[in-house]
Amino acid sequence: MLCNVDGDIYAIEDVCTHDGGELDQGWLEGCRIMCPRHGAFFDVTTGAALTPPAVMPVATFKVRLEGNDIFVEV
Ligand code: FES
Repeated sequence: MLCNVDGDIYAIEDVCTHDGGELDQGWLEGCRIMCPRHGAFFDVTTGAALTPPAVMPVATFKVRLEGNDIFVEV
């Protein structure tokens, strides 16, 4: 999943580490995204789990921009 945080693009895995919620269906506010299933927050810039019930970080991926193209290292 790609996230635009103040013009910077971040890529994270689209699966909540708590119970598999689809983070792309959540709400992005600044650098925090809320899982729509049970409300855990993650920092999309680091993958860190910020609030319960999630405790494990989500995977993050390196992003490179070239013109209008976005490349994600997986
Ligand atoms: S599945 Fe994301 S908080 Fe539970």
